[in-house]
Amino acid sequence: MRRIVHDFHGEPGEVLRLDEAAAGDDPAAGQVRIRVLVRPIHPGDLLGIIGQANEPTGGRVPGHEGMGVVDALGNDVGTLAIGQRVAFYPVQGAWGEFVLADARFVVPLPDDVEDTAASLMLVNPLTMRMIMRAVFEGGGGQAGVDGPIIQTAAGSSVGKLITSAIRTHDAEVISLVRSEAGALDFAERFPGTPVVSTSDTDWREVVRKQVDDRPVRAVVDAVGGELPMELLGLLTPGGSLIEYGSLSGQAMTVPTLDLVGREIVVRGVSVGRWAGLPDPVRAADTEFALELARSQPELLEVAAEFDLADFRQALEHAQRPGRVGTVLLTSREHAGN
Ligand SMILES: NC(=O)c1ccc[n+]([C@@H]2O[C@H](COP(=O)([O-])OP(=O)(O)OC[C@H]3O[C@@H](n4cnc5c(N)ncnc54)[C@H](OP(=O)(O)O)[C@@H]3O)[C@@H](O)[C@H]2O)c1
Repeated sequence: MRRIVHDFHGEPGEVLRLDEAAAGDDPAAGQVRIRVLVRPIHPGDLLGIIGQANEPTGGRVPGHEGMGVVDALGNDVGTLAIGQRVAFYPVQGAWGEFVLADARFVVPLPDDVEDTAASLMLVNPLTMRMIMRAVFEGGGGQAGVDGPIIQTAAGSSVGKLITSAIRTHDAEVISLVRSEAGALDFAERFPGTPVVSTSDTDWREVVRKQVDDRPVRAVVDAVGGELPMELLGLLTPGGSLIEYGSLSGQAMTVPTLDLVGREIVVRGVSVGRWAGLPDPVRAADTEFALELARSQPELLEVAAEFDLADFRQALEHAQRPGRVGTVLLTSREHAGN
């Protein structure tokens, strides 16, 4: 099988290489082997490759999500069957053509879910569900406050899912993007949802006007650094700063007395912890993701598809500013679809 591998952590364009390997071990009890057809390149995959620069990995294959066809079965894997189309998350090594997956994290796909939507239907929607629980169920912050929510990096794949979900909660979201082009694109997709570009010199006043002295219950941030700190003062006492990304790569310096005096809750959210959630929560999240892939695939937007062998072009595309949607890596068998 072909696979993308890295022997050291570092810049993805420098450390990754295409490799040939055997198709992999037979599945153990509770596992299935999947012939992977399509997998996304997520920002988190790139962070996992970068890691601590120059540290050896022992030949790591990146990627945790994708879709494909069940190829071999271990014992005790329920109703999963050979030949079945499935999506999977979390499974290490999705950037190879075969993975061994824990059957608990394999989702059978109905025929009306396209391969491309299926390949990215889990990580981002599950992240959004975890963020929504942090916003609406409190988690230490103020649940039940009726004010608006502010989100940063709103044009990202996760940001669009958050926007859509907040609107279904009948709540208001004020969305921040970093460019005029991003604001125009967002306004076209979500007419009537306030969007502000932080490239405008007066963006702070515009946001304050939108908030209009109402209690802001949560700031949902994927940028880190100074931006969320600029928004902290708008949070209602007891409100939550929810951090789920670090797109700026900058550390946050949080004014301690603001947290203390106004009892602000700073909360991280990581999909890396999803597998440990109770079974019924995971089952509801998976059902939601499947329904989303079936009925609103436009919320799982694809930027471009590249064959595994063209991974360098794929990486370049995935790191391009202004790109909309997620870049996919495909196996040869998918090309015929
Ligand atoms: N915590 C978790 O479990 C979890 C799970 C999934 C994703 N994430 C994180 O969520 C974030 C979004 O992921 P995604 O896949 O949705 O992203 P994406 O579709 O790749 O989009 C990235 C977006 O971020 C914007 N952006 C990039 N750098 C920025 C900066 N320095 N300041 C402001 N905006 C910036 C881009 O704006 P332009 O259009 O202007 O380039 C683009 O809209 C990432 O940080 C990712 O690591 C976290």
